[in-house]
Amino acid sequence: MKILLTGTSGQVGNALRETLRGLGELVIADRSQMDLGKPEQIRSFIRSVQPTLIVNPAAYTAVDKAESETTLAQSINGDAPGIIAEEAARLGAALIHYSTDYVFDGSKREADGKLAAYTEQDAPNPANVYGKTKLAGEQAIAASGCAHLIFRTSWVYSRFGQNFLLTMLRLANERDALKIVNDQWGAPTWAGWIAQATADIVRRLQTGSRDASALDLDIWHEHSGIYNMSTLGYTNWCEFARAIIGHAETLGLLHKAMPSITGIPSSEYPVAATRPHNSTLSMDLLASRFQVHPPQWEDAMKACMENAGTVNAA
Ligand SMILES: NC(=O)c1ccc[n+]([C@@H]2O[C@H](COP(=O)([O-])OP(=O)(O)OC[C@H]3O[C@@H](n4cnc5c(N)ncnc54)[C@H](OP(=O)(O)O)[C@@H]3O)[C@@H](O)[C@H]2O)c1
Repeated sequence: MKILLTGTSGQVGNALRETLRGLGELVIADRSQMDLGKPEQIRSFIRSVQPTLIVNPAAYTAVDKAESETTLAQSINGDAPGIIAEEAARLGAALIHYSTDYVFDGSKREADGKLAAYTEQDAPNPANVYGKTKLAGEQAIAASGCAHLIFRTSWVYSRFGQNFLLTMLRLANERDALKIVNDQWGAPTWAGWIAQATADIVRRLQTGSRDASALDLDIWHEHSGIYNMSTLGYTNWCEFARAIIGHAETLGLLHKAMPSITGIPSSEYPVAATRPHNSTLSMDLLASRFQVHPPQWEDAMKACMENAGTVNAA
């Protein structure tokens, strides 16, 4: 099996480079070889590599900047996945792609007003440009007819790149007081776990194949669709910050006294893009379809901070 992997300078792509190794021949496509803003380059690179599986975690992820860079965000998040998918369909390859909780507007509630987790069947209604472009990418892949798995994830962090966990570790060592938004709810997701779950699913689909060295496209078509891929439980950014900084203190990663942490509403932290108040994702389908069982978000956070290679399911 020949696997073409994008986005390896990003959080999820960097982690996938490790977990996909061993599943086949891995070909890395960085921006200099395959710029997702350049359709002809995408087509010619894929045609020259002739992969059996394309894994595409690359994306335009600057959520606030997307509000003013709409055309660029649309070309990378909305158009490029469709071109990749067309090429995959043409080659008889399968595609794994990643999407976001921000395809939802965050208004889902139980009858009693409590937060309700979004399932794969819920109708998307993105509240910002980033979410709209990611939804366009999902739709373009589905329209291509290629065998595909789209994993919707949320609040991604790792020990690498730019993310909330690393920002909180830095700020906790610089400031005495932090004010963090406490009215947006979701599930923080470790990039290392996303990469582990992705490799487990590829392995599982390969197990059912007649020839383990090739993809059984029938099996991939049978499983094609959108799957939520985050962690169990939910929290808000302020509680997540408390958990990160509390665990950092336990691990001896704080070089000064703990900062005070105060929760504030989103209205007191103005940013360009509107965020959903609730973007928790139901994990039921992932577990029932692939027997992949996500960890609790706190356990994954600790495993990431302790630099563990894997994390066990809850
Ligand atoms: N981060 C989150 O909180 C979050 C939440 C929900 C869903 N997701 C989704 O999860 C996936 C992985 O996210 P991540 O956090 O790993 O992203 P990330 O760390 O921001 O990395 C993005 C990757 O995309 C590449 N990229 C951007 N523009 C490109 C272009 N024009 N051509 C080729 N490559 C390009 C970047 O390469 P360069 O280094 O060259 O820029 C980088 O390798 C994405 O689909 C994202 O939408 C992320």
